[in-house]
Amino acid sequence: MSHIKTILVTGGAGFIGSNFILDWIAETGGKVINLDKLTYAGNLQNLASLENKPQYSFINGDINDHKLIEGLLTSHQPGAIVHFAAESHVDRSIHGPEDFIHTNVNGTFHLLEAARLYWTKLPGKQQTEFRFLHVSTDEVFGSLGPDDPPFTEATPYAPNSPYSASKAASDHLVRAYHHTYGLPVITTNCTNNYGPYQFPEKLIPLTILNALEGKSLPIYGDGRNVRDWLYVHDHCEALRIVLEKGRVGETYNIGGKCEKTNIEVVKIVCAILDELKSESNHAPHASLIKFVKDRPGHDHRYAMNIHKIEHELGWTPKESFDTGLHKTVEWYLGNLDWVEGISTGAYKKWVDTNYKDRAAL
Ligand code: NAD
Ligand code: TYD
Repeated sequence: MSHIKTILVTGGAGFIGSNFILDWIAETGGKVINLDKLTYAGNLQNLASLENKPQYSFINGDINDHKLIEGLLTSHQPGAIVHFAAESHVDRSIHGPEDFIHTNVNGTFHLLEAARLYWTKLPGKQQTEFRFLHVSTDEVFGSLGPDDPPFTEATPYAPNSPYSASKAASDHLVRAYHHTYGLPVITTNCTNNYGPYQFPEKLIPLTILNALEGKSLPIYGDGRNVRDWLYVHDHCEALRIVLEKGRVGETYNIGGKCEKTNIEVVKIVCAILDELKSESNHAPHASLIKFVKDRPGHDHRYAMNIHKIEHELGWTPKESFDTGLHKTVEWYLGNLDWVEGISTGAYKKWVDTNYKDRAAL
């Protein structure tokens, strides 16, 4: 149970946002207003189980729409804003950075402005308890060498892609609204998530779905880039704890303590598919692996030191990579109608754009 009765979630129809809303309502029974523009990454099917629930309402809109947000805040009086809305895919940011500036930078600015106006007018206790939780990424810290210590909250920002630069800009704006206006913000920087409802442009769902269809499994460069993987429900739990107990003005690193090279990740997914779909003509699925042209500016390694959230707030990741990936693969196998639903023209066009010039290495 949370002391916060109503929250405004932005980007709640995306991967992490929809898992967060489902978990929030199940865990707290609180009310959720979901504001989402429904870009290619937003999918209301993720939240179909909430459609008739009185605790849940959906508003189709852009976080740049200052007036719309002011109206929502005034009429619903949320105790917190949980800000997920973003353009989130690095490869798309390389092909077309403008949408990333529009949503991640300008959108966060407009959301902050609307939040500030609303918060300034709140009466005493409501004003003190209000929170603006900004959900960000480990990518703002740049890239680590193989032997570097993991990023801490004090690591200087050094974003390398248009995506991470736009997220870094939004983190700075959020910080400034606290420093200048006293807006009660908290920022979280999290590592790569995986789990149900992730759009299959990202490595893990792309691998699962390509392998099922016997398509090649593209690995950028030599496959030795390292990411730290966190099961999405663990991330959602961390965010609930930060909302409940996190200190205003602070940032918290969130991670899975689970560093893996991309080739390891793809091989583990293949091994799970070999086990669950042993009858498939495409087994052993690892035979589908294909090394392709690298991502420009590809960050070598991300890793998070999560000592602060573990010791200060008592959160730690629960799911192991093995159990989390098993659950994820099983979820995709059991939800092929969801996959069918998102295989729109726009998605197919993206696959063409991203992979057509990636000659095999
Ligand atoms: P996603 O791409 O799956 O979903 C983004 C959602 O935002 C979509 O529903 C989309 O319709 C919505 N949206 C986009 N532009 C909008 C706008 N202008 N106004 C309103 N809604 C808009 O993203 P995700 O993977 O769920 O990530 C959510 C947040 O978490 C992002 O801020 C991302 O930077 C951060 N994050 C993601 C990861 C990860 O591994 N996926 C890791 C760390 C942090
Ligand atoms: P991704 O899921 O796009 O997340 P991010 O770039 O935010 O970390 O990619 C994870 C890693 O997998 C990254 O190092 C790029 C790599 N990758 C591939 O090797 N092949 C692919 O087809 C994709 C989409 C990613």
